[in-house]
Amino acid sequence: MTEPDPANGTRLVVSPGKIVLGKGAVDSVGEYADLYGSTALVIATPEIFDIHGDRLLETLEGAGVEPVTYTDVDPDPTVANIEDGYDLWESEDCDVIVTLGGGSSIDAGKGVGVLATNDGEIREFGVDEAGYEGVPNPTPPLIAVNTTTGTGSEATRTIVVTDQETTTKFIVVSQNVVPDVAIEDPELVRTLPPSHTAFTGIDALTHAVEAFVSVKSYSVPDDFARNAIRRIADSFVASWEDGDDLEARTEMLIAQLQAGQAFTNSSVALVHGMARPLGAQLHLPHGLANAILLPYVMEFSADAAPEKYAEVARLFGVADEETPDSVAADRASDAVLELCEEVSLTSYLEQFGDIPSREEYLEVVPKMARDAIDSGSPANNPREPSPEELEELFVTVYDDALAPDSPRRS
Ligand SMILES: [Fe+2]
Repeated sequence: MTEPDPANGTRLVVSPGKIVLGKGAVDSVGEYADLYGSTALVIATPEIFDIHGDRLLETLEGAGVEPVTYTDVDPDPTVANIEDGYDLWESEDCDVIVTLGGGSSIDAGKGVGVLATNDGEIREFGVDEAGYEGVPNPTPPLIAVNTTTGTGSEATRTIVVTDQETTTKFIVVSQNVVPDVAIEDPELVRTLPPSHTAFTGIDALTHAVEAFVSVKSYSVPDDFARNAIRRIADSFVASWEDGDDLEARTEMLIAQLQAGQAFTNSSVALVHGMARPLGAQLHLPHGLANAILLPYVMEFSADAAPEKYAEVARLFGVADEETPDSVAADRASDAVLELCEEVSLTSYLEQFGDIPSREEYLEVVPKMARDAIDSGSPANNPREPSPEELEELFVTVYDDALAPDSPRRS
């Protein structure tokens, strides 16, 4: 499929086919799977399967659907994970894929789907080899049972895969991999610890803000982004303070879904471009890397799209209609900094990061800046940084937020 050409006024808006939302939504998985056949390939990480696997198997078996389980997905799903899942899909003659988990499980499931109906190795479908929309055939039905409040992968046409041989990541992007059913059940995110609630929530905020300010933004994803930002401003801190607050958890589930809908139809931008190399060098989880970078990139970019950043500030309640855009825009990054402070974001660096000395960090800055530019994401940013500006941004982030004695950590 070719993508409609915005220059001709046509747009492609992708979305999961159905969204089942609310407490107990997971119990409908069996019924949905039964619509598609009699054998379901269940794909999960071992940790998540331990927590929620029994409940998922119960709904499938209750509906007369035989589950076949593949529960060895790595936190960053690999080519091998996708091949192993596909072997089971073939040998057990499965009809439908059911993923249990966040982005890792969903992306592994999408990858198995690609191999199930298309010839070739998963690497050949990467955008660097096949381009965007490089998956020619529709993939089998996929039901994504989401267990995080961040990635929004159940709403997207992207697969992020780790090539374990080269330890690099590649992405596959196609409307053919968007899940058919997204299950958003707040009971499944209740056990998400405060740390992961914090970083996945700010990852979702990053998706929404980046989609909203992207040079590829337009009306439809803009509205998804606005709704996502408003919900995050209202409910994120409550969901972090009390994981059992199912109302706040539900709002965050909707927010991260809408943020996924926003960026998959617009794009991500500079934060994601910088977060990938920063995360790889410092061993930071994706959401934490984004969260650390977001306020600095917003501050750097605000003057290039003041009306958009001003709206972000208004959604956060730190500016109103009377506030001139130029003034409001500068407050958006402050609002995000404050939000990070409220969920003790930098306190998680100790446990989840590997922060080098300033000298060691400065040595890898040029490479991180090059990798960021090569990802293509900075070109979507309203202000595209020069290589020197990117390096400066990386240094600012270290001095202000990453160094053990930095203002935000001490
Ligand atoms: Fe992300």
